[in-house]
Amino acid sequence: MIDFRSLTEADFPMLCEWLNKPHMRAHYQKTPITIEEVRRKYSERLSPSHPTYCHIACYDGEPFGKLQCYLLRDYPDFASEMGEHDGVAVDLFIGDEHFIGRGLGKAMLRSYVLNVIPSLFPQDCKCFICHAKENTIAIRGSLSAGFLPYRDVIEGGVESLLLSFDRPN
Ligand SMILES: CC(C)(COP(=O)(O)OP(=O)(O)OC[C@H]1O[C@@H](n2cnc3c(N)ncnc32)[C@H](O)[C@@H]1OP(=O)(O)O)[C@@H](O)C(=O)NCCC(=O)NCCS
Repeated sequence: MIDFRSLTEADFPMLCEWLNKPHMRAHYQKTPITIEEVRRKYSERLSPSHPTYCHIACYDGEPFGKLQCYLLRDYPDFASEMGEHDGVAVDLFIGDEHFIGRGLGKAMLRSYVLNVIPSLFPQDCKCFICHAKENTIAIRGSLSAGFLPYRDVIEGGVESLLLSFDRPN
C-alpha cells in the first residue's frame, strides 16, 4: 500500500504546498516558504552525490508524505547536537492532511527504515529520529514504528527526544 520514490523537480510545487499547510507550522516548517526557496533548498538534494536522500511516500499511488535520510557524520553540527556521530538520521512528514492520523505516519516510517534505508546505507544498521518533546504524536508514531527512546537532546534550542532503531543485519 505504501511505496516510495525519489523526490523529483516536478514534486516542488506539491512540496511547497505541503510545507505551507497549517499542520506543518508547529514542528517542521515554522515559517512560510516560497516556491523559489523550495527550489533552492531541494534542487541540490536531487543529485545522487548529495548526502541527503529525499523520497515521496505514496499510498495506493497517491503521494502523501515526504521523508529524507542522511548519515549523521555528513552533518557534524547536527551530529554534535544529537551527541551521536554514527548512524542514519530520518526526518518525515505527512504533507496531505487527509492522510494524517490514519496510522500512515508510523507505517511509512517503519517501511522506510526497513525497505529504503538499507539499500542506501547497507553498512549502517542504526537509525535515529529526533522529535520535539511537545510533538507527542510524532513520538508515539516513532515508538509504534519500533524506535526506542535513546536520549534527551536540545535541537535548535528545543527540548527534544532522540529515538533509535536497530535494523536487523
Ligand atoms: C508526525 C506524523 C508523521 C505522524 O503521522 P500520523 O499519521 O499523524 O500519525 P499516526 O496515525 O501514524 O499515529 C501515530 C501515533 O499518534 C497517535 N495519534 C495520532 N493522531 C493523534 C491525535 N490527534 N491525538 C492523539 N494521538 C494521536 C496514534 O494513535 C499513534 O499512536 P499509537 O501507535 O500509540 O496508537 C504526522 O502527524 C506529521 O506529519 N506531522 C507534521 C510534521 C511533523 O511533526 N513531523 C515530525 C517532525 S520530525
